[in-house]
Amino acid sequence: MLPPPAVALFNALKSSLGSSQATRELKWLAQAARTSAKATSLDDMLARRLSGEPLQYIIGSQPFGPLNLLVRPPVLIPRPETEHWVVSLADALSPTAQNPYKLLDLGTGTGCIPLLLCHLWRRGSLRAHAIDISLDAIELAKENASLCKIPQEVDPLNPRNTFNVIRANMLSPTLLRDHLLDPPYDLITSNPPYISWSEYLNLPESVVHHEDPKALFGGPSGLEFYHAIARLVRVPGFVNPGGVIALEVGHEQANLVQEIMQDAAAIKRTEIWLDPWGKQRTVVAYM
Ligand SMILES: C[S@@+](CC[C@H](N)C(=O)[O-])C[C@H]1O[C@@H](n2cnc3c(N)ncnc32)[C@H](O)[C@@H]1O
Repeated sequence: MLPPPAVALFNALKSSLGSSQATRELKWLAQAARTSAKATSLDDMLARRLSGEPLQYIIGSQPFGPLNLLVRPPVLIPRPETEHWVVSLADALSPTAQNPYKLLDLGTGTGCIPLLLCHLWRRGSLRAHAIDISLDAIELAKENASLCKIPQEVDPLNPRNTFNVIRANMLSPTLLRDHLLDPPYDLITSNPPYISWSEYLNLPESVVHHEDPKALFGGPSGLEFYHAIARLVRVPGFVNPGGVIALEVGHEQANLVQEIMQDAAAIKRTEIWLDPWGKQRTVVAYM
């Protein structure tokens, strides 16, 4: 039985989300309220949800493949379409402990992409490095790595997959000269900010009001970060021969990003992968 204030809030939630979605969310929120370390009340959680805050920020976690990652504002909540291509990438490539991959994830957010690869690939087959410009993201990605029991350092006596993250600006013209990165890499992954100015105006309020604009804006055309990634990849010795670059793309960007990547020297071929809803979601380039 819900106490009267929660009943009123739940009825309001039903009007806004529909009965079955509101009932599902009530169940998750009630469970989160019971287990919350911060002793947050169900009333508070329902009120936050009614104000349009994303459910994942209120609960504090989001499943990503077999992982359950911590999420909190303003770091971007990992999306199911990202999970889908990362699992496909994990199936398509098979690094081994004898030939481990060195990965660079650009704009890591919660750390979801490299942490899932660390979890799915064989022990000792992946050394994942990540950058982000946001200190909130870096702190959260480190917490997620500890939660997933992914160590930072390679231990020659106990080979494990490793993950570390630093603060760096992928648009900076001095990124390579600053010696923050350590190429060559075998795999580059990124779900960069790709929303254009015009698309931003049509985003749902729950995104605009709660998620970091830095995680969303990809410049006026939405393509600024892909051009920056292509410039990096073009630098001789940045990606090893046989290396792979996997980039998530936004609405109607796949062909444009494919062209941008094909212009980068040494790319042998590119593919476009679809998401579970049939949308062109990932451009994969092979060196
Ligand atoms: C779309 S989010 C993706 C986050 C995460 N990879 C995911 O898939 O959920 C883009 C990320 O890029 C970061 N970012 C934005 N501008 C950046 C820059 N100039 N250099 C490095 N990271 C940046 C944001 O802070 C954000 O975490």
